[in-house]
Amino acid sequence: MHPSEPALRGSGDTPTSPSLLANPLDFISEDHLRERQICAVIDGLATVDALDRRSATAVLRFLNEELNVHLRDEAEDLFPLLARRCLPEDAIEGAIARIKADQDEAMRLLPELRAMLAGCLDSEVSLTAEERAVLSRFAAHVRRHLVAENAILLPIARARLTRADLRTLSKHMRMRRGLPDLLETTDAE
Ligand SMILES: [Fe+2]
Repeated sequence: MHPSEPALRGSGDTPTSPSLLANPLDFISEDHLRERQICAVIDGLATVDALDRRSATAVLRFLNEELNVHLRDEAEDLFPLLARRCLPEDAIEGAIARIKADQDEAMRLLPELRAMLAGCLDSEVSLTAEERAVLSRFAAHVRRHLVAENAILLPIARARLTRADLRTLSKHMRMRRGLPDLLETTDAE
């Protein structure tokens, strides 16, 4: 049984394809590539004086439409499933706690970040040095937790989650995106 072999990687330039939702860990892995790509765009905004409207719009759209759903996939489904399935030697509780702390730090900056980007796009004014420092801090927190998720959580999830767990994860991720449940005939044991 290889229900969650890594799929072909995309570029992270566009939102993760819903077609990957049948393999939810592949979807999450692809979402991390997307996050990494957005972090690079944020770094670009943070290092240049003049506001790049296209980049600012792309980041704002990601923050509004993709990041929150991704974090809910993890907090509401992936982390609890891991906590239930993992063995004591996986030491998963500590890893999840550290990742959540970093996610919380990033989330705390989110309202400010949104307001900054929306404000600059509205007023056509460039970001201040202080605002650009907030962008850098946010990108650093996002990068740090996604590195830990890729290195620790996803490999353990691939090893420990059952086929039924993956089905539940896929179903909840689809529901979260307003997509109907896949009653796949290919899903037979
Ligand atoms: Fe993540």
